[in-house]
Amino acid sequence: MYDVYEIRKDFPVLNQLINGKYNAYLDTGASAQKPQIVLDCMRRIYESEYANVHRGAYHLSELITADYEKARLQVQNFVNAKDAREIVFTRNATEGVNLVAATWGRKFLQAGDEILISEAEHHANLVPWQMLCEEKGCRLKIFKLAENGAFVWENFATLLSDKTKLVAVTAMSNVLGSLLPVKKIAQAAHEIGAKVLVDACQFAVHHKIDVQDLDCDFLVFSGHKVYGPTGIGVLFGKLDILEAMPPYQCGGDMVANVTFGKTTFDEPPARFEAGTPAFVQAIGLAKALEYMQKLGLENITSHEKELTAYALEALGSIKGLKQVGTAPDKGGVFAFNVDGIHPQDLCFILDKEGVSIRTGHFCAQPIVNRFGYESLARASLGLYSTKEDIDALVKAIRKAQTFF
Ligand code: ALA
Repeated sequence: MYDVYEIRKDFPVLNQLINGKYNAYLDTGASAQKPQIVLDCMRRIYESEYANVHRGAYHLSELITADYEKARLQVQNFVNAKDAREIVFTRNATEGVNLVAATWGRKFLQAGDEILISEAEHHANLVPWQMLCEEKGCRLKIFKLAENGAFVWENFATLLSDKTKLVAVTAMSNVLGSLLPVKKIAQAAHEIGAKVLVDACQFAVHHKIDVQDLDCDFLVFSGHKVYGPTGIGVLFGKLDILEAMPPYQCGGDMVANVTFGKTTFDEPPARFEAGTPAFVQAIGLAKALEYMQKLGLENITSHEKELTAYALEALGSIKGLKQVGTAPDKGGVFAFNVDGIHPQDLCFILDKEGVSIRTGHFCAQPIVNRFGYESLARASLGLYSTKEDIDALVKAIRKAQTFF
């Protein structure tokens, strides 16, 4: 039984008042709060197990190295990858995409090749491709979504051609909440020989990931959004593809042999983890993923599904509030505009009421602009979100409306 009120007790940040009010944290889409076991785990490492990984032949270093590699196994399990070598620790999802663009992209793309993305991509899954296209003379193609933010098969399929070498899509939009059928997209892309990268930053917060079932070639997500620490992310890549990719950054721990004349490189994933990695964070991330798995990804999804329906109805009852992104297949991310109130002012008033939301273009400016806005307000759910959070949001919006 999924008892969200018990679960909330695991998150110290949630158990405090904000501006003297009930703490309605509705910005998990930007970053998630951390359960106590993640905090304890990282503290324990610094207090009793700390040394550098992969370098020492002494007790502490062996201990931490084993834990770091165990963290990789946990991530492998979380995304159901075939092989732990397919898991590269990065700084965040952004670094994962940049790594693929700078290595696979530079090596395998040529002038005239096309990269296909959706119009709802986060800048992290747009700008690296834009820059790669400029450098290599490739073309960036953008497929549109429906007015309600839903995926439209024809819009995608008509832009897919034998020139397409990569399809890079989000599994869940951080603005619209729309869920994209990445498995079907991957199937279609593979039929014409293109590779597929999935940005699972938002999706991973709410859903089970199975990279073998999706059959994607790359998948990225960030640790801090899945209840883990900042400064750590994951790039999954199919092993044969990673093996064919040159290094991203060069330095310690990614080489096989170095002489002044020539350097040979280590196998993946070490080849892509130059320098001392964020190993404490990686172990903290593994603890967060274990926490999610213990709660059950299906349970998290179904809790949030129920709450999404509740939030859609509650927000829909507010006169003058326009929701952006109302696709039937949608997760717990709600972007909206309230007539006559700038999102920034709204955010400020909500904060006084203990309600934390995000405003702006959410690092996905083109899709916000497409709906005619420069800036929007956004509430987003996490596994600890409650109906009380939504009620507090609605009450605070109504209060804000009385000021304008
Ligand atoms: N890109 C993150 C968000 O959507 C930070 O808020």
